Amino acid sequence: MAEIVGGVGTSHIPAVGAAVDKGKTGDAYWKPYFDKLPPAREWIAEVDPDVCIVVYNDHANAFSLELIPTFALGLAEHFEIADEGFGPRPVPAVEGHPELAWHLAESLILDEFDMTLVNEMTVDHGLTVPLSVMFGEPDAWPTKVIPLAVNVVQYPPPTGHRCYRLGQAIRRAVESYEGNERVVIFGTGGLSHQLQAERAGLINAEWDYQFLDQIVADPEAVTKISHLEYMRDAGSEGIELVMWLIMRGAMSPTVREVYRATHVPTSNTHNGLLILENV
Ligand code: DHB
Ligand code: FE
Repeated sequence: MAEIVGGVGTSHIPAVGAAVDKGKTGDAYWKPYFDKLPPAREWIAEVDPDVCIVVYNDHANAFSLELIPTFALGLAEHFEIADEGFGPRPVPAVEGHPELAWHLAESLILDEFDMTLVNEMTVDHGLTVPLSVMFGEPDAWPTKVIPLAVNVVQYPPPTGHRCYRLGQAIRRAVESYEGNERVVIFGTGGLSHQLQAERAGLINAEWDYQFLDQIVADPEAVTKISHLEYMRDAGSEGIELVMWLIMRGAMSPTVREVYRATHVPTSNTHNGLLILENV
């Protein structure tokens, strides 16, 4: 049986990827943030997953207003890096795991989650920055990746409750796979941030700390946070945090918190990192 051996929650701030790509991680602005990453990188090196399911949102790069899948599962052998306006990030190509991905597709759809199946798509900062955060700058990513893109860009996004239930279904799906892959699941985005309009630059650290405490200890409470509350308390892009509930749903009801770090400033977002293990 395949097994979920860890959960990672992390922001996916594009400027973090740019700092890595341009060799600026030791600069005065960036060093205090990157100094917080070694425990997370040591943990994942130790866990050494075969596959990472990376739950992220596409930021109008692979998809556009022409096609808005709520939950898009990447089945391909290979995913090219998106060009977000400055050329693709100079990071290794992302290699998929079609066999496990197709098993997830079958299991999830028969479990009544209507996934969109994607055989070809590029992956943007939502997916590549979390890989850089956790793995640094290897010549090749040390893990296969199954992308799961969630629409949180065009209203209406899925509810946190739906995301949590999807995570639980992902756990059932992984555990019914006959391989013995060890899987880490990522929930990305957040913490509080707003990139637009009058409240641009909003950060609500107190709310974020409570979110982190609750997603560890009482995820069912987090599933009750409404879209309006995310918008009001965590900013218009804080809605990305529903994706952390997919990660959390795929973990055991009680988890061990292995590592937590938060940081400001990194661009316009309260930067969060959380690592969980099943107990
Ligand atoms: C920023 C954060 C995001 O999550 C994103 O998708 C784009 C930009 C930022 O803080 O700059
Ligand atoms: Fe984002």
